Amino acid sequence: MLFSAAASLVSVAIAFYATASLIVPLRVPAVWKVAGATLLLLGAFKNTLFQMLGGGMFFAPNLPHGVILAGALLYNLLIVALFLSVVKDAVWLLWKASHFLGVCRGAFPAGKASAAVLVLAAVLTLYGTWEAVRIPDVAARDVFLPGLSEGFEGKKIALLVDLHASALNRRPFIQAIVERTNALSPDIVLIPGDFVDGLARDRKDDLEPLSRLRAPLGVWGTSGNHEYYSGYADWAKLLTEWGVALLENRHTVLTSAGGKLVIAGVPDPQGPRFGFAGPDVKEALRGAPAGVPVILMAHRPEDAAKNAEAGVSLQLSGHTHGGMMPVLDKIVERLNGGYVRGWYDVGGQVSGRSALSFKMKLYVSPGTSLWNGFPMRLLDPAEITLLTLHRTR
Ligand SMILES: [Fe+2]
Repeated sequence: MLFSAAASLVSVAIAFYATASLIVPLRVPAVWKVAGATLLLLGAFKNTLFQMLGGGMFFAPNLPHGVILAGALLYNLLIVALFLSVVKDAVWLLWKASHFLGVCRGAFPAGKASAAVLVLAAVLTLYGTWEAVRIPDVAARDVFLPGLSEGFEGKKIALLVDLHASALNRRPFIQAIVERTNALSPDIVLIPGDFVDGLARDRKDDLEPLSRLRAPLGVWGTSGNHEYYSGYADWAKLLTEWGVALLENRHTVLTSAGGKLVIAGVPDPQGPRFGFAGPDVKEALRGAPAGVPVILMAHRPEDAAKNAEAGVSLQLSGHTHGGMMPVLDKIVERLNGGYVRGWYDVGGQVSGRSALSFKMKLYVSPGTSLWNGFPMRLLDPAEITLLTLHRTR
């Protein structure tokens, strides 16, 4: 509630700034200016309005699809307009400075610049919102793992993360992702968290298609932060019934043609806030066979160095949504331990013990869907990740 109120306050400040920068300078009748300012303010109050409409918990995942989409478009327009306003005003300041220095003599075309920025903001908002709500493409990646046995050479892992099933991404959307994933014939499916937004009684039918995922070596998952906001115990029970085996601070040993591979998982750090366990990679790997590569599901990437030191070979994460758009991605990266999307080599030496070094690959997925609170993707498409395992030469 406090977070929602703070977010609304910040949004209102953004709306006033965007109005002053983009709407006021326009050379149009006052009624158009009032309409533009109203749309920006409606975007700023989106979350408050959604709560008044009875949208339920945490950014109202239960409202009708069209209402969520309309609110998302207004809110996304506000955020895109903010970033473009800053650029336009920086140009305006440069223009002023050059005018002061006598380099430039003409007046800044404020009305035309504001109109152009508004049109660009509208186009980017429509494109970015469409990119966020469409069925994701498949992104194929090769992974070379030291110590991988011959039995796992060429095995395929489908990585789905941040599905965020809500009234925005309902059953047909999840069903389409499941069908696209099954068509890849994966050997293993891994889902490291943020399955859903909403309580099991509201969203059960939307997420149920996960029960149709098919993989001979299993469908495995672990919790994300949104499972705890959504009633973790109920979702853990349902996911298990649907064949998604949750690895919360534990591991399993897969075998293929005599070779072994460890799949482990840790819960999201939000767990203890709701009376559940937090991530404990040492507990997750307790009793794991030595010399066998370990793939770890951890919803957030931020503990990568600690996990590398614990002996993980490959960490698979999400949570960042790839940063969602340029500039914002730099902020998201800072908030997540320096990771935002793609591949990272994580490693180093344990201080004071020069003989002991560790090395791990980290893949941060941009996510397979998007949270209904801010469904926006610019230069950051979602993906169904298909990882093919290879032995290092
Ligand atoms: Fe998350």
